[in-house]
Amino acid sequence: MNLHENYSLKNYNTFGVDVKARYFIDITSYNELRSLLSSDLIKTNHFLLLGSGSNILFTKDYDGIIIKYSVKGINIIDETQDHIIVEAAGGEIWEDLVTYAVGKEYYGIENLSLIPGTVGAAPIQNIGAYGVELKDAFHHLESLEISTGLIRTFSKTECNFQYRNSIFKNELKNKCIITKVTLKLSKVKKINLSYKSLSDELKDVRHDDLTIKLVSDTVKKIRQSKLPDPRVMGNAGSFFKNPELTNAQFIEFQKRFPDAAYFKQSEDSYKIAAGWLIEKCGFKGKRIGNTGAYEKQALIIVNYGGASGSEVKELAEKIQNDVLNIFGIFLDFEVNIV
Ligand code: EPU
Repeated sequence: MNLHENYSLKNYNTFGVDVKARYFIDITSYNELRSLLSSDLIKTNHFLLLGSGSNILFTKDYDGIIIKYSVKGINIIDETQDHIIVEAAGGEIWEDLVTYAVGKEYYGIENLSLIPGTVGAAPIQNIGAYGVELKDAFHHLESLEISTGLIRTFSKTECNFQYRNSIFKNELKNKCIITKVTLKLSKVKKINLSYKSLSDELKDVRHDDLTIKLVSDTVKKIRQSKLPDPRVMGNAGSFFKNPELTNAQFIEFQKRFPDAAYFKQSEDSYKIAAGWLIEKCGFKGKRIGNTGAYEKQALIIVNYGGASGSEVKELAEKIQNDVLNIFGIFLDFEVNIV
């Protein structure tokens, strides 16, 4: 087992925050995971599961074990005339799975191109972008319960997927390792252009000329034009969730702020663009110490270099306060704070 002590996590979180873990283990095989679960180390220490560290903010050293699950592999496990059932290991890089599906013309996750993170982390917050969420392509997943070592399978319903949320962020937080995720993808052409910025970008393309590759490339282009590359500027994507309002709350809100950006979420609710709220509070592009809300997308907090996790958290709380005072809306963190 690859065990390190007092290990720097700087290269294991996309914010690039320099904290240390008492222990760090990179698990590269299922057998290694099994031996870790039966070891004394795991029984006598706190632990934290880490994917690519792309949705986490460390505010202090971690006095326990950081477990990184790096087991990889993509396999087709079933096929019908119209669908393909693909299973990917939890440590597989999400973008590698998307590239595989796009290359084979298996439709369903091309709108989720270029999302950082691992396959095993994707169901935890039900990753989503450009009109698609993981749940839309999800079939089932397999996990290993840490306290018992038992394998447990979860159907879509059992995962209780919601907007950037699932059972693994709540009751089962840090209780099981997601070892395999299985998706149901379509072999029949199915293009989803429900998200406005994506359909705007492709408005001049005839339907017959729309390919899965073109959709994926267009999503990548949009993302690259407004999201900072964590290798250049530390960040964890959207720091906050877009707040949801009931129809009645939305009507009141819109009366006061008619030019706010929003999306209809369901028959009974709307989502307000948190980026708009943050921008209106004056944070967009404003630098405070080593951190700030990104100049092209205010929903993203960036590390200009050398920021500590607490400095980032302090700014996030200031944004929360100002948005609450001005708009009466509380912004929930999307990023996990440790
Ligand atoms: N907007 C502003 N100012 C800003 C940013 C946005 O006014 O600084 C307004 C604009 O009107 C814009 C609208 O907000 O048209 C929506 O912006 P965008 O399309 O960038 O989407 P978002 O709601 O800010 C969400 C996800 C992103 C995802 C995009 C595209 C959340 C918390 N974030 O952002 O996900 O890529 O939609 O689907 O739902 C992530 O989760 O880390 C992430 C990047």
